[in-house]
Amino acid sequence: MKKILAFALLLAVLSMTVFVGCKARESGLPEIGVAIYKFDDTFMSYTRNAIEQNAQGKATITTVDSQNAQPTQNDQVDQFITKKMKSIAINPVDRTAAGVIVDKAKAGNVPVVFFNREPFAEDMNKWEKVYYVGAKAEESGTMQGQIAAEWWIENKGRDQVLRYIMLMGEPGHQDAELRTEYSIKAVREAGIEVHQLAIDTAMWDRPRAVDKMDAFWARFGDEIDMVFCNNDDMALGVIESLRKVGFFTGGRYLPVVGVDATAPALQALSEGTLLGTVLNDAKNQGKATFDIAYSLANGLAPTTTAGTMEGKYVWVPYQKVTRDNYRDFQ
Ligand code: GAL
Repeated sequence: MKKILAFALLLAVLSMTVFVGCKARESGLPEIGVAIYKFDDTFMSYTRNAIEQNAQGKATITTVDSQNAQPTQNDQVDQFITKKMKSIAINPVDRTAAGVIVDKAKAGNVPVVFFNREPFAEDMNKWEKVYYVGAKAEESGTMQGQIAAEWWIENKGRDQVLRYIMLMGEPGHQDAELRTEYSIKAVREAGIEVHQLAIDTAMWDRPRAVDKMDAFWARFGDEIDMVFCNNDDMALGVIESLRKVGFFTGGRYLPVVGVDATAPALQALSEGTLLGTVLNDAKNQGKATFDIAYSLANGLAPTTTAGTMEGKYVWVPYQKVTRDNYRDFQ
């Protein structure tokens, strides 16, 4: 029975593959394979939608969920190459694994665009048909720090030491490392003395951030002056935790800053809980990723209007988002 079922499943998968293949070939559109490190990530779902929207009528996109496992993603890349995709766009699970993907792509002569997780330069330089679309993480850190500093100076002046908690994204991710560093650098540059009470990672994840903040509150309580989060999902988790101990009602406030400008974060800004965020421009990063993958699929020199091209890199700018301008991003 099990064997029959397995065989039926295999047949179904095979016929689907053939069907998708025929559909693309019939339509005459180039096929592009897209792998996302995991679908269950708010910001990546925005980027993915933008890639798919830009592809409409121009290319057939096959998007796969790498489920946060590099071996799974490597298999998916193999399949894209076997299926003779014209180009592939990869959001690596582990950016240090990009070299392996480049080797595979080069062997199959399938151009590759990495996005959101920046490979090391030596991997980028392994082959000429390798590009990267992203945003300069330092910039988002600096903007977040400036938002924080502005609030601090306005509300506490420059004489008090700012005691903060830092919640990081995934260790090793350029956005986590650089936002952490540059946010605090910007606060210091504004002339504010800082003291880090604690630093930890919540892996970009809201529920994990709730747990971490529960523990920080239990440990530090009112010593905490501000919470810096490498992304909005974690900032919203922190706010959720703080609500449980009475913040954001009756004038009790603790500033929390994030990055991304997701829809729920803009909502939190409008409600006066989140102090500020930084637009991580998924629309333009998705458009640039598609534009580059599409040019490469057609054997053309890569171009895009969605960011600034510097050699093999496309940079999409960040923007500060506060109570003053959040409506422009909704
Ligand atoms: C960052 C973003 C995070 C998360 C991460 C995934 O740029 O700010 O929210 O999506 O990418 O790699």
